[in-house]
Amino acid sequence: MKNYKTGEKRRKVVIVGAGAVGATFCYALAQSGLADEIVLLDRNEDLVSGQVLDLGHGQPFFHTVIIRSGNITDYSDAQVVVVTAGAAQRPGESRLDLLRKNAAIIGQIAEDIANQKCQGVMLIVSNPVDILTYVALKRSGWPKGRVIGSGTVLDSSRFRYLLSKHCGIDIHNVHAYILGEHGDSEFAAWSMTNIAGIKIDEYCPVCGKCSDWKYQRKLIEQQVRESAYHIINYKGSTQFAVGLALVKITGAILRSQNSVLTVSAFVEGEFEISDVCISVPCVLSDMGVTRIIESPLVPEELNSLTGSVSILRKSIETL
Ligand SMILES: NC(=O)c1ccc[n+]([C@@H]2O[C@H](COP(=O)([O-])OP(=O)(O)OC[C@H]3O[C@@H](n4cnc5c(N)ncnc54)[C@H](O)[C@@H]3O)[C@@H](O)[C@H]2O)c1
Repeated sequence: MKNYKTGEKRRKVVIVGAGAVGATFCYALAQSGLADEIVLLDRNEDLVSGQVLDLGHGQPFFHTVIIRSGNITDYSDAQVVVVTAGAAQRPGESRLDLLRKNAAIIGQIAEDIANQKCQGVMLIVSNPVDILTYVALKRSGWPKGRVIGSGTVLDSSRFRYLLSKHCGIDIHNVHAYILGEHGDSEFAAWSMTNIAGIKIDEYCPVCGKCSDWKYQRKLIEQQVRESAYHIINYKGSTQFAVGLALVKITGAILRSQNSVLTVSAFVEGEFEISDVCISVPCVLSDMGVTRIIESPLVPEELNSLTGSVSILRKSIETL
């Protein structure tokens, strides 16, 4: 849809799934001012009505934006469709346990989006996100760059948070990425980690605060991996950080920012892997992923990446 005065395209985002993650993302996106129109869809229509009213009542306090309920025809002119529908991870349930339940749901949604001739980007959030992104890509028949998963953007922010706390340095000066599966086999790309441009291993002697960095490294990486399980044990689901991570990804698409983010993307030969959706450093614009950056990972990291690939492949084969 175009603005009748300026002729500019409206920045329209459709969110499928108005539960904890979908509604929190909607709330954060509305406050960011990045979208002109946000449409919520959920198979639970009462939930959508309630969320739309609740969010709408906050409109005097944030940027002008239309927030409304919709239906599948809203996919047709959306710039980004964000899919958070499905079952949430329950305490003790691994992300891979959710696979079969959510594959059918996401496959159908991807087909509906494609049938509406949407020209935008499909962003899958539901878990297990890498596999569901693969399912959505195959079911939609879209070009690979336009179907992406939120991947390890959230995990990378958890990693930066922990490093920032450990080093006592502003998180904005901490550059660090988690790669691989969004799940138990994810790994920290230590070779890409730096504090204010100084490689982490060179920064440590300069800082000199901690005595056993090797041990601390392992601990931090493990804490990142276990973060979601801890939060789910405490309160049943995670929503705030993921909502903000989704604003970052959606903003990069709406504003065609060429941001480097570790979204889950279909790889075809990069890092010598192929036919899987997995988190690697990606350049993200209004066309979706336009390039995968083949950062020079060390052998140990490449092994971890290959490990994630075989885990994801095994799950894909069970579908
Ligand atoms: N990728 C990440 O970083 C990340 C982080 C947190 C949660 N998640 C995942 O996001 C998903 C949503 O989590 P949540 O806490 O919001 O769950 P939730 O149960 O609160 O919300 C899910 C919503 O999806 C709706 N739904 C189910 N089937 C649908 C369909 N066919 N069409 C439309 N709506 C449908 C449900 O009615 C529900 O309102 C889960 O799969 C969760 O594991 C991913």
